[in-house]
Amino acid sequence: SDSDPLQDFCVGDLKASPSINGFPCKSSVSASDFFFSVLGGPINTSNPNGVTVSPANVLTFPGLNTLGLSMNNVEFAPGGVNPPHSHPRATEAGIVIKGSVFVGFLTTNNTLFSKVISAGEMFVVPRGLVHFQWNVGKGKARLITAFNSQLPGSAVLPSTLFGSMPEIPNAVLTKTFRTDDETVNKLKSKFAV
Ligand code: GLV
Ligand code: MN
Repeated sequence: SDSDPLQDFCVGDLKASPSINGFPCKSSVSASDFFFSVLGGPINTSNPNGVTVSPANVLTFPGLNTLGLSMNNVEFAPGGVNPPHSHPRATEAGIVIKGSVFVGFLTTNNTLFSKVISAGEMFVVPRGLVHFQWNVGKGKARLITAFNSQLPGSAVLPSTLFGSMPEIPNAVLTKTFRTDDETVNKLKSKFAV
């Protein structure tokens, strides 16, 4: 859903300041600007979520500047969860490359649409909706996702709510979650940056 380009390409000059819709164009361009070899994995998934996302967006692959798309390599340890998040600027499509993954998104009426899918099967997440994935297979799992934005953005709910800088006041979070300071402090301690 990015705006349409007015030239063949505009490889981003990441050293320049971003302007309203991306980066200024780099003046000297070569073939290597249009190739990116980092989506193949494997990547390390030993972290509390058991998931690692490796993005090919305009910030890692500046050749995507003005082209309106990007991709991620997402790898899961057994049981790994890509936590609920949303992409404000893009619809997401994904394909399972390996393993068996419970994939779900939530409508703005809180209906959950979900399915367990495996290698070769695809899913879609409408723009902006909250979604997650959970590796339900015995081994590792891997997805490739694609977005109709060079920089879809990701609002990851647990870190947005409990790991912000500065913090959201406890009064807001205890009321929001109908709970107490102890619970909120515990959650904040897990997501502190
Ligand atoms: C998966 O949801 C991703 O954003 O790559
Ligand atoms: Mn996503």
